[in-house]
Amino acid sequence: MIPVVMNVSAHREHWGSRIGFIFATMGSAVGLGNVWRFPTVVVRNGGGAFVLLYLLIILAIGVPTMIAELVLGKKTQRNVVSAFGQIKPGSRWGLVGLLSMAASFVVLSFYAVIAGWTAIYLLGSLSGHLITGDASALKVLFSRVSSHGILSVTGQATFLLFTVIVVVAGVTGGIERVNSVLMPGIVVILTVLLVRTLLLPGAIPGVFWFLRPDVSQLSLKVALDALGQVFFSFSLGMGAIVTYGSYLPRDHYIPGSALWIAGSDLAVALLAGLTVIPALFAFGIPPEGGPGLIFVTLPAIFSTLPFSMIWASLFFTMLLFAALSSSVSMLEVVVSYLVDVHRFTRVKAAFVSGIAVFFLGIPSALSTGRLSGFLIFGRTFFDLVDFIASNVFLPVAGFFTAVFVAWVWGVDRALAELEIGQRFTWGKAWALAMKYLVPLAVLYVFVRGLLG
Ligand code: PHE
Repeated sequence: MIPVVMNVSAHREHWGSRIGFIFATMGSAVGLGNVWRFPTVVVRNGGGAFVLLYLLIILAIGVPTMIAELVLGKKTQRNVVSAFGQIKPGSRWGLVGLLSMAASFVVLSFYAVIAGWTAIYLLGSLSGHLITGDASALKVLFSRVSSHGILSVTGQATFLLFTVIVVVAGVTGGIERVNSVLMPGIVVILTVLLVRTLLLPGAIPGVFWFLRPDVSQLSLKVALDALGQVFFSFSLGMGAIVTYGSYLPRDHYIPGSALWIAGSDLAVALLAGLTVIPALFAFGIPPEGGPGLIFVTLPAIFSTLPFSMIWASLFFTMLLFAALSSSVSMLEVVVSYLVDVHRFTRVKAAFVSGIAVFFLGIPSALSTGRLSGFLIFGRTFFDLVDFIASNVFLPVAGFFTAVFVAWVWGVDRALAELEIGQRFTWGKAWALAMKYLVPLAVLYVFVRGLLG
């Protein structure tokens, strides 16, 4: 066993550059969670007050947890399952890693379905099929696409194939290179769309609704939604950040990078919110979330603009790329494990796990169509796996990861690893957050979430 472990470490690939690592991890963080899920939860939770809480939770919980996951990966140079065992050999802590990996696997299975629809919508906008201002026609179109089994499964399969291809190309050759182009591209496209939206008459009240905190809207449920959104958007509790951290060289200064990653994830979420929500106001569409926001409302908005085909195509291209760079990080969690522990080649690991995710995702892809009447515990398959991964696996893994770093490995040892080469000015605050705030907050959310 031991020689295998040493062997793996000696051959571990590392990021080609600091900026390449930052772009790749931003790529993991920035995804459907920012462009689709964030505006949806803002709308559901009544606007500015939610945004304010979201900012606070990012600072107090999101950034510290991201630093903890990165340093766990960097220290151990292992996939997420072995990382725990490496620090606490002979213990059962590896189960927490397994749970994170399972969360990534399951989330990817339905993430690929939504990304598949995005790909179909991109083709639709390129061929001019989407261009109608008639919202009810667009609604019918979306339900036709999402209930069409063969189309949904084909979209999901195609998207997964691209994910596998990037992962096969490897850490520096695939993930790093692709993300270094995609991330700046996404910011440029979103900024163009933002400017276009803000110039629309009637958009500005939407900006105020988005930014002005109305404290009467604050409640426990709003806080829970905000914490869940931070975890999802920062890719926490699913092994992705630990895995990307494991490709860092020992002398990499993590806190600086974590701030860049967190800051840009937040910036993209704000850009998306400031594009989508004022657009709803400008067109007098009542703010409502759900898939309709991206697949019905936005196409309706695009169609009223000159060169509508270009706006729609730009938007769906950007969304597809953002989804791809996130799905790559989810698959990499599994691939890294199969390569480290079961000594698969990267190609074999990527295809085997990609195919397994595909099969798990098929019932999700059919959940909005043929299988819509097939309910387990009152939920469709899609909603069930979403619930299990987001409300059970993710908080449980997140809680135990925080406890592990803070109490089992120990904040002092973690801090020493963080301070290789550079002093971490906020080290004491980080240690306090990891020991008390993060585990308690996550535990609380988990229990409340289960109680409903
Ligand atoms: N953070 C990604 C998004 O916002 C989703 C994700 C979750 C990616 C977990 C990797 C791991 O879309």
